[in-house]
Amino acid sequence: MNQDPSPDELRALQLDRLRWTLRHAYAQVPFYRAKFDAAGVHPDDCRTLEDLAKFPFTTKQDLRDNYPFGMFAVPQEQVRRIHASSGTTGKPTVVGYTERDIDTWATVMARSIHAAGGRPGHKVHVAYGYGLFTGGLGAHYGVEKLGCTVIPASGGMTARQVQIITDFAPEVIMVTPSYMLTLLDEFERQGVDPRKSSLKVGIFGAEPWTEQMRTEIEQRLDIDAVDIYGLSEVMGPGVAQECAETKDGLHIWEDHFFPEVIDPFTEQVLPGSESGEMLFTSLTKEALPIIRYRTRDLTRLLPGTARPSFRRMEKVTGRTDDMIILRGVNVFPTQIEEVVLRVGGLSPHFQLIRSTRGRMDHLTVHVEARPGTPAERRVAAARELVSGIKDGVGVTVEVTVADPDTLERSAGKMRRVLDQRDPT
Ligand code: DLL
Repeated sequence: MNQDPSPDELRALQLDRLRWTLRHAYAQVPFYRAKFDAAGVHPDDCRTLEDLAKFPFTTKQDLRDNYPFGMFAVPQEQVRRIHASSGTTGKPTVVGYTERDIDTWATVMARSIHAAGGRPGHKVHVAYGYGLFTGGLGAHYGVEKLGCTVIPASGGMTARQVQIITDFAPEVIMVTPSYMLTLLDEFERQGVDPRKSSLKVGIFGAEPWTEQMRTEIEQRLDIDAVDIYGLSEVMGPGVAQECAETKDGLHIWEDHFFPEVIDPFTEQVLPGSESGEMLFTSLTKEALPIIRYRTRDLTRLLPGTARPSFRRMEKVTGRTDDMIILRGVNVFPTQIEEVVLRVGGLSPHFQLIRSTRGRMDHLTVHVEARPGTPAERRVAAARELVSGIKDGVGVTVEVTVADPDTLERSAGKMRRVLDQRDPT
C-alpha cells in the first residue's frame, strides 16, 4: 500500500512547510535574520518553491561561527538532544533536536529501514558509532519505531561484533561500508563463513562507496546492500535511502528535506539532472532549521522510481573537499575504488597518499593484496591498476601493493586520503 503523497500534494506540502521554516528561522535565529536582511529577502518573498533560490546559503563555517548553540531556534528547555560532528579541523558543528524533531527523525529512519527491506520483527545490528555522531542513535530510534529489535553494538571491538552477529542472528546490519569490510575480514579470521550468517540486508552509508563495493559486499556476505545518506546539519542518517527492489540511487524524503543542486562555482541552481553540489533545506525541523545548506556532496537529482513521488539522488561521487586535482585532472577516491575492485588479487583496502615530487603533485595508491595472492600476481596487478587508472580516470599514479592485513582498518568512517605534500 503506497501512502506517499501525490506529486501535487507533495509540492503543496513542501511550500507550506518551507514558508513555515523561513518564518521560524527569521523570527528565532538572529543569524538568519541578519543574513536575510543583508540579502534583501524576507520570508514573505517565498511564494513558490523556486523562490527559495533568492535566499542565502548556509555553510559549515556559519555553524562554527555560531558555536555552540547560536543557530538554535528554540529555548534550551525544549532541546532534548544534542549531536555534533567532529570534522577534521576546528570546532565541531553542534546540532539540536526537540522532542518532535527526534520523532520526525525516527519516522524517516523507520521509513528508510523499511525501504531497505527491514520489517517489523527483524533484529537489526547497529554498528554505527553511538555518541555525538548521529549514526548510532539515529539508526537506533528508527529501528525501534519500525517495530524491530535493536542490537546497539556501536563501532569497535570487532571480534565481539562477529560473535554477537553469529549468536543473536540479526537479519539486518547498519554500518559504514568500510567497517563492514573490517567485519568481513574478522569473520574469515575466525573461520566463520559470512555467507552462512543470518544477515539478509545491509544498510551502508556515512561515506562514499561504489557499485563495485556493493558487489564485493553482497557476494562475500550474501545480502542485499543498499545505500543510506544523511548529515548531522540536516538531521543525521535518513535524509535519503536506496530501495532494495531497485538499488538505483537514494530516494530523498522530500516531505522533510528539500533538495537543490547547484554549480559549486557559479552557485546557480542547476536545472534537470545536471551534476553539482547538493543543498538541503529542512522543512519541519524546530530546534535547528537549516536553509540551503551547502553539503559539499557531489551528485545529481533524478526522478523517483520505486517511490515515484520522491526524487532520487545518485550515489554520491565524493565531496568537493575530497577532490584531488592532479595535474589538472579531478580525481575522487571513488573512481580509484572502482578500478581497484576490478583488478584480480587486489583487496578493497586502499589508501591514497598525496605527496610532492620535484614541484609536481604525486599520487600513490597503497593497496593490500588479497590473502593468498602469489608474488607474480601482485606485480601484474600493480601494473593493471596503473593502466586501469590511466585509462579510466586519466591520471598517472604510482601503485604499491602491501601484504594482507597491514593497512589501517576502519571502525567507522574511513580516511581514504593522506596528505603528505610539502607546505607551500
Ligand atoms: O555521516 C550521517 C550518517 C550516519 C549517514 C550513518 C548515513 C549513515 P555526518 O557525520 O554529519 O553525518 O557526515 C555527513 O557524510 O555530507 C557526506 O559527505 C557523507 N555521507 C553520508 N552518507 C553518505 C553516503 C553522517 N551514503 C557527510 N554516501 C555527508 C556518501 C555520505 N557520502
